Amino acid sequence: MSAYRTILLVAAMEQESSPLKQSLDFRPATASSRFAVPFSRFEADLGGTRLILSLNGKDRRYGNENVGLEMAALNTYDAIHAYSPDLVINFGTAGAFKDRGAEVGKVFLSKDRFFFHDHRIPLSGYEDYGRGYLPGLDVESFAQALSLPTGIVSSGSSLDFTDRDLEEIHRNGATLKEMEAAGIAWSCYLTGIPFFAIKSVTNLVDKTVSSATEFEKNFAVAVESLTNTTRTVLEAIVRGELPGK
Ligand code: ADE
Repeated sequence: MSAYRTILLVAAMEQESSPLKQSLDFRPATASSRFAVPFSRFEADLGGTRLILSLNGKDRRYGNENVGLEMAALNTYDAIHAYSPDLVINFGTAGAFKDRGAEVGKVFLSKDRFFFHDHRIPLSGYEDYGRGYLPGLDVESFAQALSLPTGIVSSGSSLDFTDRDLEEIHRNGATLKEMEAAGIAWSCYLTGIPFFAIKSVTNLVDKTVSSATEFEKNFAVAVESLTNTTRTVLEAIVRGELPGK
């Protein structure tokens, strides 16, 4: 029996999450925010565990998906208040490094620290704060039991990267580069809810020139493996295989 009775799943893009939504039979969630926020929420039952899926939703000005750190943090903070989860999981896509064992479509679980690579504050006492070092759940043995690789996730606000970003990504020891996890980790750190991420690789940052072109080309492949692995992970948690809080 799982120690986690309610699990909040956070995703940025509708297209990243809709196959999982269908496969686990999610329906619109009952409780929601009292504000006209764009987050869209669904719920499902998996073996007696309540699953809440919360998407960042669309921007009402541009109609695009609310990707990025700010909306991921706000969505998570609001959903934590609405549903009081015992565990938060972010599932989504990421860029990654072939030199660190990544391949397109390969899925990683996060290690126990989350970082930013573009929050540079070179003032005394602010450097590590800028880098994040936000706590995540240590899922190393759980990942090993499921034969899944783990990697450090470094988050920033751009799909592409500058040389300074790359320097910071390496300094953070990151295998994965994406745009949401550290924002979500911040909301979980503030509220004391355990958190980890599941990231599927769309593009190899150290092998291909354009992150955007590769992202679009490989998105469907990455989402397929993301969906399968997220389901496997959830089923294992529901069986009680993730150690309790
Ligand atoms: N999501 C998928 N690929 C990404 C990349 N290269 N950078 C940031 N977020 C991503």
